[in-house]
Amino acid sequence: MALDQPATRPANPRFSSGPCAKPPVFSLDRLSGAALGRSHRAKVGKDKLKAAIEGTREILGVPADYRIGIVPASDTGAVEMAMWSLLGARPCTMLAWESFGAGWVTDAVKQLKLDAKVVTAGYGEIVDLATVDFDTDVVFTWNGTTSGVRVPNGDAIPADRAGLTICDATSAAFAQDLPWDKLDVTTFSWQKVMGGEAAHGMLILSPRAVARLESYTPPWPMPKLFRMTKGGKLIEGIFEGETINTPSMLAVEDWLLALDWGRAIGGLPEFMARADRNAQAIFDFCDARDWIANLAVDPATRSNTSVCLKFTDPRIVDGAAFAKAVARRLEAEGAALDVGAYRDAPPGLRIWCGATVELSDIEAMLPWLDWAFHAEIEAQARAA
Ligand SMILES: Cc1ncc(COP(=O)(O)O)c(C=O)c1O
Repeated sequence: MALDQPATRPANPRFSSGPCAKPPVFSLDRLSGAALGRSHRAKVGKDKLKAAIEGTREILGVPADYRIGIVPASDTGAVEMAMWSLLGARPCTMLAWESFGAGWVTDAVKQLKLDAKVVTAGYGEIVDLATVDFDTDVVFTWNGTTSGVRVPNGDAIPADRAGLTICDATSAAFAQDLPWDKLDVTTFSWQKVMGGEAAHGMLILSPRAVARLESYTPPWPMPKLFRMTKGGKLIEGIFEGETINTPSMLAVEDWLLALDWGRAIGGLPEFMARADRNAQAIFDFCDARDWIANLAVDPATRSNTSVCLKFTDPRIVDGAAFAKAVARRLEAEGAALDVGAYRDAPPGLRIWCGATVELSDIEAMLPWLDWAFHAEIEAQARAA
């Protein structure tokens, strides 16, 4: 028997894991103050770039002696810039528990040809950080966007480590507590928790990372886009808004709007609380049903941003086809856009819960998930 459709839809059905929903206050005319058609090196442009850096520092609580740079090519650019510039000086450990982390392993092993120790965990699992040697350089992803598994805290990272920690935090920053004293390089892109635009990456360097940059020259060629030093000294301008190449001043304005919105609603604690509340609504939904479960095996590692779900009903014949069909139904009804699992991840759904998503939209979407699941079970039975 067909399940009735819910009476209401989410006001905003955007649950994509990147680019993520814009802040609730967003409208294009709020970007009208952008320094468009002006040089990013003119005072007006540089002031905005500096404000983007310092606003980020203020809201994230980044220590004053850490550098923050706006770099090309989104989060990928920031991570690769760090890897290419810093790795090779000491032994290196690469950690991966989903496809983005796996991509950084490929970079280290196949491109940089490092004799790295590679430690991986399958989708839903995480590497035990207590077993990692932090006297090596360690590259890892804080929140695995494609598996919905996150590092629960930085306790396993020793304060007196000899290696550098290089952390891809793109779907964690602004939603999860990042322990700055445990992170030497932290990267993220504007498009995630704050609903900014892609294209630019943020690269945050500890004093130890800067010391490495100034004391070590990698043996491989370094594209101009990756160069952070000149004559053995850090190019400080990069961390004051003098970007390596031309940024989008529209994207910068959009980031400034996101930061303003963030300040207005209460800053980092409120961002984290919003993501927690959103994710909890989904966790509760799953707990109350026996046909859907979190992909993250250990509840302590469940992401509060990229919540990944798997269908567990034994009646499901083809898991991948079923999950895709549910996502298609949700999209067709305007109930949830872009919630299919990542292409390399196990079949299921991925629902973004970052700070720009409203709890009321999650709550309005979940009855549709119920509906879509049952509708698909019926469709499967009819087709059999
Ligand atoms: C963990 C992680 N790393 C890297 C990336 C790539 O980010 P970008 O496309 O901003 O370079 C993503 C994108 O979703 C991601 O989730």
